[in-house]
Amino acid sequence: MKYIIFNWKSYLNLKETTSLSMLIASFSKSKKHKIISAPNNFFHLMVQKKYPKNTLFAQNIDLHGLGASTGSLDISYLRENKIKYCILGHSEVRSNFKDNDQTVSKKLNLCITNNITPIVCIGESKSVYESKKTKKYLKTQIDNIFNKKTSYREIIVAYEPLWSIGTGLTPKMSEIDEISNYLHDICKKYSFKKIKILYGGSVNLDNVSDILSLQKVNGVLVGSASTKSDFIKYFK
Ligand code: 13P
Repeated sequence: MKYIIFNWKSYLNLKETTSLSMLIASFSKSKKHKIISAPNNFFHLMVQKKYPKNTLFAQNIDLHGLGASTGSLDISYLRENKIKYCILGHSEVRSNFKDNDQTVSKKLNLCITNNITPIVCIGESKSVYESKKTKKYLKTQIDNIFNKKTSYREIIVAYEPLWSIGTGLTPKMSEIDEISNYLHDICKKYSFKKIKILYGGSVNLDNVSDILSLQKVNGVLVGSASTKSDFIKYFK
């Protein structure tokens, strides 16, 4: 079963979110794909109420906790509203809100204690890629974020090269394959009950079937293409 995750970021208004959620709700249950969507946080409750069978995830949480923290999104809101997944360390959160591997690691622990499945995003810059240091860079990120002494339930790691997000550029298929194999390998030293490695970055209708055909790629995390009904219908 491959995970197909739609990260709608802040692309869609309420009407568009409703219409794509209705489309997803119309699909019959598939053994091939697990479809999860991440609407803007404002729209979770609406989608949940209208389409209770859709699986949703949050795009981020913060670390301020409940209390005097205007504008925060505490993990208890996810728990109370039965949002079971949360993206952590997305590159846009890293650049807009100054998240780093250390904050991602703290958020990860919060997710674990609250039974929320985290989708941990990692990925290298163009210069790291060009200097052929991707593996070393990703290993450091994994080691910064995960703890060898912790037992993790289900963890999803999304490999999203920063230079690939929103650019139309992707690594070669052989590179996606190699990196996914590598990530599965280096994750063996951690205690994960279940680990999934996804690829994200400029996934679209032209490349999605090739990417999903790679055995060690357990799914895709899709941004802009996932806001188009044609792309979503591919998984019907
Ligand atoms: P694009 O698919 O728009 O490149 O975005 C990828 C992404 O950031 C998914 O989280």
